[in-house]
Amino acid sequence: MPKRIHLIAGILAPLCIATFFLSTVLVELFGSPAAVAQVKSLIVTPGLWILVPAIAAAGGSGFFLSRSRRGRLVDTKKKRMPFIAANGLLVLIPCAIVLDRWAAGGSLDASFYLLQALELVAGAVNLTLMGLNVRDGLRMAGRLRGPAPRASAAS
Ligand code: HEM
Repeated sequence: MPKRIHLIAGILAPLCIATFFLSTVLVELFGSPAAVAQVKSLIVTPGLWILVPAIAAAGGSGFFLSRSRRGRLVDTKKKRMPFIAANGLLVLIPCAIVLDRWAAGGSLDASFYLLQALELVAGAVNLTLMGLNVRDGLRMAGRLRGPAPRASAAS
């Protein structure tokens, strides 16, 4: 059961961040202010209500699964988790809430885009860290091969 929870949450969390990221970039490049406000609102509700439990479930089930594991991959995954959680709680959630309020109030000004840029950078960082955790997790679960061994000098 924890393995299944970890797999689902471990795919869902990066998928949420990627969806928020892409929809934000697309709507802010090509959408009307009303469409921007709509997307910013959807990112908060239901978006954050899916993302936050998914990150918590991925972290919690990951630490549970790691009790019986040793090695570099699991240690590196453990070290990435506090950055993923802190970035989510301290940057992504507050940014999403404030951007939603500003967009709803029609203030798509310089402050909005500055905060938006910060949110996109934090999102890209979390997406990278989560992507690395997915890759290492799939390797540990035997679903992904490690880097191919170097060809020997003799061959
Ligand atoms: C948001 C963070 C994380 C993501 C996105 C993530 C993602 C994944 C994915 C996709 C798998 C493959 C599961 C499968 O194929 O069944 C996996 C496996 C695994 N993850 Fe994570 N993980 C995260 C955090 C953690 C943490 C913090 C730990 C604890 C150190 C951890 C420990 C493990 C272990 C031990 C496995 C192997 C499970 C097995 O034996 O099949 N993960 N992870």
